[in-house]
This record gives sequence, C-alpha cells and structure tokens, in this order.
Amino acid sequence: MDVHSYSSPEQVRVRHLDLDLTVHFDRKTLEGSCAVHFERMTDGDLVLDTRDLTIHSVDRADRFELGPVDPVLGAPLRITPAEGTDWVRVHYSTSPAASGLQWLDAPQTAGKRHPFLYTQSQAIHARSWIPLQDTPGVRVTFMAKITTPGGLRSVMGAAGGDGQFQMDQPVPSYLISLAAGDLAFCELGPRSGVHAEPSLLDAAAHEFADTEAMIAAVESMYGPYRWGRYDLLVLPPSFPFGGMENPRLTFTTPTILAGDRSLVSLVAHELAHSWSGNLVTNATWSDFWLNEGFTVYLERRILEKVFGAERAEMEAVLGRRELDREMAGLPERDTVLHLDLAGRDPDEGCTLVPYEKGALMLRTIEKSVGRERFDAFLHAYFDHFAFQSITTAEFLRYLRDELPNDVPVDEWIFQPGVPAGAAEPQSEALDNVEIPDAARWTTHHWLHFLRTKKDPDMGELDREFHFTETGNSEILAEWLHMAVQQNYQPAMPRLVQFLCSVGRRKFLKPLYAELMKTPDGAAYAREIYRRARPGYHPIAQNTIDAMVGKGGVGGQPGTGAGDRGPGAGV
Ligand code: BES
Ligand code: ZN
Repeated sequence: MDVHSYSSPEQVRVRHLDLDLTVHFDRKTLEGSCAVHFERMTDGDLVLDTRDLTIHSVDRADRFELGPVDPVLGAPLRITPAEGTDWVRVHYSTSPAASGLQWLDAPQTAGKRHPFLYTQSQAIHARSWIPLQDTPGVRVTFMAKITTPGGLRSVMGAAGGDGQFQMDQPVPSYLISLAAGDLAFCELGPRSGVHAEPSLLDAAAHEFADTEAMIAAVESMYGPYRWGRYDLLVLPPSFPFGGMENPRLTFTTPTILAGDRSLVSLVAHELAHSWSGNLVTNATWSDFWLNEGFTVYLERRILEKVFGAERAEMEAVLGRRELDREMAGLPERDTVLHLDLAGRDPDEGCTLVPYEKGALMLRTIEKSVGRERFDAFLHAYFDHFAFQSITTAEFLRYLRDELPNDVPVDEWIFQPGVPAGAAEPQSEALDNVEIPDAARWTTHHWLHFLRTKKDPDMGELDREFHFTETGNSEILAEWLHMAVQQNYQPAMPRLVQFLCSVGRRKFLKPLYAELMKTPDGAAYAREIYRRARPGYHPIAQNTIDAMVGKGGVGGQPGTGAGDRGPGAGV
C-alpha cells in the first residue's frame, strides 16, 4: 500500500502507456494524449494520479471524474472504462506550473538562443505531466511520440530518437523522463554517450571519459547491464539535483563538470541505480533506502575498482562525516531507514540518512560476512528481484534466508541513529590535512580541509588558495557556506552570483539556511531569493519557499542591499 498514490492497482493495474505529446514552448504546456492499457485484477474503476492536469476527454470510457485536490497528492482521476475494453485514451494538457517540468527561457540555457524543457518525475511528479498510476509499485512499458517545434531535439530515457521512443522493459512511473532543447551528442564508448548543449559538449565528453570503465566494473561484480545503452544528458544549471537515474539516460547537473573528473562519483552513483533502483525498485517511498543505500554502496565499489581504494575510502569518510553533520539537525524519526511518510511529501524523506546510513549498514554486513559472500548475495539479489518493486520487509526476508549474519539489521532499519558496531571508514589521506599541499591535493582533500578547519582566517586562506574564484562547485559551495558563517564580505558577490545561477538543491539549502540564522542575513537571503527564484525549478522553489518565504510575495520590500552582503547594513 502506497500512501502517496490514489491508484488501486490491486483492482485495476496499468501495464502500458502510449503517449502522443506536443511541446509548446510558447504556452509552456505539453498537450496531447495518453493511451492507458490496463489489466483488471478484480472489479472496480481505473484510478490514475494527476496534478494540475487539464483533462479534455477520455475515449472508450463510460464516465470519468477528477476528484478533489490534495496539496501533496494532487487529484485522482477516476475512470469507468467502457464494457470489455482494456485501454482508454486520456486527452489532456499540462499546467505551466507543473511540478515535474521545468520550462527554461533561452537566457537560462548555455547557448542563450533556444528554450529548454526537461522533466523530473521522482518522487511523485510524473503525475503532473502524465495521468498514470504514480507509485513505484506499478511498472509499465511505454511508447511515445514527441513533437517539438523549430528543429529542437527531444530525448527520453527510452530507446529510439527523432521524436519516436519505446521502452520495452517495465519501469516505475518515477523513471519516465523527457527533455527537449538545442542538444548535441558525442559518443563515449560502444554503448555510451553524452547529450549536451553544443557549447558544453566537449567539456562533458572529457569529464565522462571513464563511463565505459565504470559500466564494466559493475558488470564484473553484479552481472550484465540490462538496459542496452547508457547515455548521459547534461542539463542547464537550474537542475535541482546532482543526477537522476532515468533508465538508459542519466540526467546530470553541469556543476559536476569540474574539468578534472573529480566529481564523477555522481556518474558512478546514477549508473549503479541501473541495478539498485531501476532493476530492483523500492515499492513505496518509505523503502527509499533500498534504492539509495544500495546505490551509494555500489557507487563506492565502482570508485574502488576504477580509481583505487584510496579514492573510494576518502569519499566514504566524507560521506560518514556529512551523515553525522546532517543527523545532528534532524528529528529522530527521520534518522531511521524505513521512513514514516504518511501525510508528508516524499521529498521530505530525501536526507543523507537513506543514502549514507543505508550504505553504512551494507558495509557493516559486508565486513561481517566477508566481501566474497556479500558480493555473491548482492548479485543473486539483483537477479532474483530483477524488474520487480520490493518492500523493506521483502528485503529482510531474503537477507535472513540467503545471508544469515550477526548485524542487528532491525535496529539499523527501524531505530534512530547509527547503531554500535557500525563499520568505520578510514582514510589515511584525509587524516593529515592540516597543512595544504596544493600541488598534490584533490577535491576530496580540500573539502575535508574546509570542513574540519577551526577558526579560519578567511582573508588569508583566500589570498593563498583563491577559494572565492574556484570553478569547482563542491569546493565553492563549502567555501561560501563558511563565508556566510564568518561574515566574510569579499565572497558575497560570488555568493549572489552562485545562488542566482545554480539551482542544485543540495547547494542552495545549506547556504540559505546559514543566511537565515541572523536578521541581517535573512534580509539578504530574501533579497537574493527574490532575484533567483524565477530561475529555480518548482521543486527547489518549494524547498526554499519553506525556508525563506516566497520571493516578492510577502517578502520584505527591496532594501537595495544588493551585493553588499549580510551585516553590511542597509
Ligand atoms: N534518485 C536520486 C535523486 C532524487 C532523489 C530525486 C529523490 C528526487 C527524489 C539520485 O540518484 C541521487 O541520489 N542524486 C544525488 C547524487 C548522488 C551522488 C548522491 C543528488 O542529486 O545529489
Ligand atoms: Zn541516487
């Protein structure tokens, strides 16, 4: 039972979708139809999830009715199909404010000449652009015809191209994806490549050169890559996430194009989802840790195989510390792995807990039973549950039967915090970062250095290492966070520029949160947000609205604080 969907697949279950959509950049709407093919399990109506959709008509139905709107769930579309039919066709259009779509005007793209559209369906946003059973417990195959204006290309996480797509392997709704814009393509390997705006293509191809080696690394451990091609799509900087594992086509933020391949653990992560998540899927959003915990575990194993143990271990240590940093500010109920999300937006469960605590539990089991046995278990797990959506209880049963061990997994999954006896990642490389070694240090050393620095002399650090000017987004975000904490004024113009050009929620959240801690900072945050908000994705807007208030609407009138920074006075 999924509390985040109105559909009742135990009565009528959707099996296949046939989409025919036209992209209207001028009206910021998708318009067209979706044929919904279903199987009757028992008697009952077909119930689909929708949010902000306008339903024009439903073919092959005796009746249809859009129910009342819930702020988190949207509105149920209840359809009584005509006698004997096993499919209906819904004619509809999306709203310009659809939570799962971002419509970018030309100035918000790298090339500045063409508009751009992309979808982000996870967790429950697919319903804002397709009427469907929007629960990860239901898997569908699909076909799509996408019409775009003016020679702009469309891509989907599916096979095909030229506006005709097909997905023959059943996927959950949150993995259905589409993008359209001025896109170019470059091959990376025999079954992989990258799509990006033309001006970013070379940089992207250089950054992602190790993709094929990463695919081969997972295959050697956990079995064949089952999705045919593995391509990447580089999105404009407002993309609210680091990456999204859409099958066959990972979506990524351009903020990982550091130039030195130091941030490609994100590619390892999204690729790993091709096993953990896309092949074996969390059945509800309370089981989210099954997707993300396994994926972070796999991600580090890929890094170890491709780049060596030191790199993997550095990331594990950084992750372990970030977990503690985040958990310190979370209510206890959000530090368990199996989350209670009743009445809440599943996006709220998206903390580091399912990621890092989940991975740490798996690492603890690995340590307890030995790597060889654990890998054999994981390989068998992916085969056993391939193309299925499973609950935490099903995982626990399988673990108990196939890999008895002495790790207190119930405590890990249902109790808050990190249990005693957890594996402890250890990195010698990070143990001695007091004195910088600019010639040899990698991004990971610098991040650890900044995060552990006590009483920093911001001016001196900046003169010596030029943090304010760095082109590495991770280091910059960390530095700007310190700059707000320390009220280091010279970094404020860069802070404003960063917040007004990047929409990745992981960077925005801590920066706005830090600003909101003082009255001057809060006024400055509102000032920046008023300018930045129109460029953010609806998902990021929601998050920051809750922290700062809606820019303009109800915010403070302009103080003219401009780029002077918090504490500068007005
Ligand atoms: N599937 C997630 C992104 C996501 C989670 C979107 C929940 C919507 C709701 C993706 O695989 C992910 O975890 N991305 C991370 C990067 C990763 C390296 C930790 C991100 O976006 O930061
Ligand atoms: Zn993930």
